[in-house]
Order: sequence, then structure tokens, then C-alpha cells
Amino acid sequence: MLDAVLARADANLEASLDRLSALIRIPSISTDAAYAAECARAAEWCRMELSAIGFEATVRPTAGRPMVVGHRTDPGAKGPRVLFYGHYDVQPVDPLSLWKTDPFEPTLQTRPDGSREIVARGSSDDKGQLLTFVEACRAWIEATGGLPVPVSVLFEGEEESGSPSLGAFLDANADELRKDVALVCDTNMFDSDTPAIAISLRGLVGEEIEIRAADKDLHSGYFGGAARNPIHVLADILAALHDADNRVTVPGFYAGADEPPPEVAAQWASLPFSAEKFLGGVGLKIPATERGRSVLEAIWSRPTCEVNGIFGGYTGAGFKTVLPAVASAKVSFRLVATQDPAAIREAFRAFVRARVPEDCSVTFHPHGGSPALTIPIESPALTSGRRALEAEWGRPAVMMGMGGSIPIVGDFKRRLGMDTLLVGFALEDDRVHSPNEKYDLKSFHKGIRSWARILGELAA
Ligand code: BES
Ligand code: MN
Ligand code: MN
Repeated sequence: MLDAVLARADANLEASLDRLSALIRIPSISTDAAYAAECARAAEWCRMELSAIGFEATVRPTAGRPMVVGHRTDPGAKGPRVLFYGHYDVQPVDPLSLWKTDPFEPTLQTRPDGSREIVARGSSDDKGQLLTFVEACRAWIEATGGLPVPVSVLFEGEEESGSPSLGAFLDANADELRKDVALVCDTNMFDSDTPAIAISLRGLVGEEIEIRAADKDLHSGYFGGAARNPIHVLADILAALHDADNRVTVPGFYAGADEPPPEVAAQWASLPFSAEKFLGGVGLKIPATERGRSVLEAIWSRPTCEVNGIFGGYTGAGFKTVLPAVASAKVSFRLVATQDPAAIREAFRAFVRARVPEDCSVTFHPHGGSPALTIPIESPALTSGRRALEAEWGRPAVMMGMGGSIPIVGDFKRRLGMDTLLVGFALEDDRVHSPNEKYDLKSFHKGIRSWARILGELAA
């Protein structure tokens, strides 16, 4: 039976690609309100595709972008009920000038070694990944008349904007969405031949800080040296966030930043991970890691503090001798294990306030906060996932730490009591969130086959 399903997935590949192209052509950027109608269009497209393969599917409005929910339970279905999650929204495309092709016109490009990739915004994150699951369902339905387990899907349109509507939506529809296990396809493989299951996700705390000094911009000839420059104040604060060992200096920051279990640490130590290659891929060679930590640990299991943006004063063409009134920065923290997002936000604010001179002021604007998540490695779904992935790829799946954040996985656990199996086929060089994002055709094809096998394993 599985052979027939896999053969069907293979035979469908060209048509699957056409469907991916159609979804990619809808510019569903969630962070920019100008694209709200496009997000609605993408949601409706997803609903239609699910209906076409026999799901009972609806588009559900929220205060922000709509959700898509679908259900299909076949008479022969057995085993755990699954809820698959993916997001149809994408990141903005800027800077547009760095794209070699139209970001929303998918182009299939052949590399020197003959392998192919789909270049477009959202090809990898997360439209290509989301469709690997839908196309796997299609293969099952077309080859056998139904799905082997009861399947529900939830597609979100606000993941790239921090999922503001998600918590309330899960609470309001808890009975409908609570299944035995959640499946998520929004993560990476270890490398292009080695599948992975994500066993941890980092949490995220974002803060924008705005420091004000004088009540207006000043001439730096009249006032420079006498009046406080808020850019200098800000620069001092940002510089103080790390010490000479690259450790974060905010008091209490490392509380709860526990190490991964020994079994996991042992697997990681044996992985053929090359820090040179990892950094070399982006034109660097000197690790900026915390003292005593490997690059792999730095991205999989250590917390960080990064300044994501800094602005103030005159940044236009030419020169202006101004002493600005305001300076601001966007700072984010990636969290691990049981670090507390609220406590870290407060500790950071106190750290900043203590460094702002009396006649200056500081305001804070929070940008989302989610704790890290650790997934138990001995759950039944994880075992099914490992088996299916090893059968498809011919080698065991790596139990990987994920540097990124997918806040919903924590919400599934906390709000619905559901564990999640995180399997993804993106690659390190997919340029997600960057110009010329791509998804390998191999990721798409074998991703579809992998989900087809996982569904089979779950039912077994
Ligand atoms: N798919 C990513 C998360 C991810 C990144 C997983 C890299 C694996 C490797 C997701 O779409 C994403 O970009 N998440 C944001 C969340 C934020 C906007 C709340 C992130 O990690 O920055
Ligand atoms: Mn994503
Ligand atoms: Mn993303």
C-alpha cells in the first residue's frame, strides 16, 4: 500500500510543483498591512486546495490575518489523530534590488550538479514545507481512497509577525483543534542528505528602546560637548550587553539556561558539523561564540542577545552636523530551556534604566515574548517519525536543536496539552528571510514522500 502511495507522490510531482507555484504567486506578506488582502487570498487558496482533496475546510477570520482549518477522517483511519500546522504568510522581500528574479514569480533553476531549486519568497519558509504535507495527503487519498489516520490542519497567516491572534484562536477552538499529536513542517534538515527532527526551539524576547535627550535636534557646533548625545548613551548601553567572553551581562540572564540531556549532547558531539563551512557560507571565519562553546552549541542550545537594528540622527546622503534628540535600537534575546521571557524583559529594562542619565528618558516597546521549548525524545510520534525518515533517507534522523523560534509549538503544549513532532526539509542555504530564498526540489519531493511515510507509520 505504501509503495502505491509513494508512486503516486512521484507521479504527481509536476502537478505538485504547479500548485506550489500558484501559492507562491500570492504575495502574502503578513507584517505589512498593505498585503492584508493578499493574505486573505492565500488563505482562500489553501481552503480550496484542501476542499479539493476532500477536507472539510474553512477560512476563519481573526483580528489579524485569517486561519485555515480543515478536517478529514476516513472510515478506515486508525491511530493517533493529528493536527498539522504550517504558515502561509511570508517575510517582506526588501531589499528588492538584491533579488535576481521576481520574488513572487517562482523560477526553477538548475545548479551545476544538475539538481534543481525553486527560487521565490516563501518557497522554503513556509509554503513549500506546508505543501509537502498537503501533497502527501493527496497521494494517500488518490492511491488508497483515504488517509490512514484522522487528519486536521491549521494554517496560520501571522507566523512571521509573531502570531498575535493565535493564542486566542487556540483557546476559542480548543475542542476542535485538540488532537493526539501536532505535526509541524517549518524546520531544517541537518544537511541535504540527512533528515532531522527538531527537539528544541529557542524562545524569543524582543524590545525596542528609545532614548531621548534634548527636546529637539540641536546644532552640534552650538551644543556639542555641552548637551548629552542620546546615540552615545545608547551605544554605551548596547556595548555593555556583552563582556569580553561574549557572555550576556544582564543580571540573571542565564537562570534556567540548562544544558541538553547527555544522550543528545553525545549525538551532537559526534555530528560531522563544520564550523568553518557554516561560517564560510556567509563569508566569515572567526566564531563569535561565548567563550568555551562550540558553534553548534551557540546556535542550538545557548541563549543570545542580538541588536537587530539601531537608528538615530542623520543617516541620509551627505553630512549634517546634528546632535539628535532621540536614538533607538531593537534588541532581541533567544532563550533556551526554562529561561523566563518576562523576567528577562524586566531584567533588561532595569539594566537599561540604570544606565540612562537623569535628564534623559527611555521608553520601551515590547515585541512578543515566548519561552523556549524542549520536546521529549521518547514520545511514540517521535519514534514513528524517526522510523519513517530513516526509511526514506537511508540514514537516521539527527535530533537537532533549532536556533529559530516557532511560538505555536509552546502554545500547543500549554493551551491544548499537545506534544509536537517537528520535521522539516529546509536547508541551511535556503536564504530564508533573505533575498533569493529557495527550496530544493529534492526537499519538496522527498519531503512529500517523508510525510507520506510518517502518516503510514503513525497508523501502524
Ligand atoms: N521557520 C522559521 C523558524 C525557523 C528558523 C526554524 C530557522 C528553523 C530554522 C519561522 O518562520 C520564523 O521565522 N520564526 C521567527 C519567529 C518570530 C517572527 C516570532 C523567528 O525565528 O525569528
Ligand atoms: Mn517558518
Ligand atoms: Mn520565517
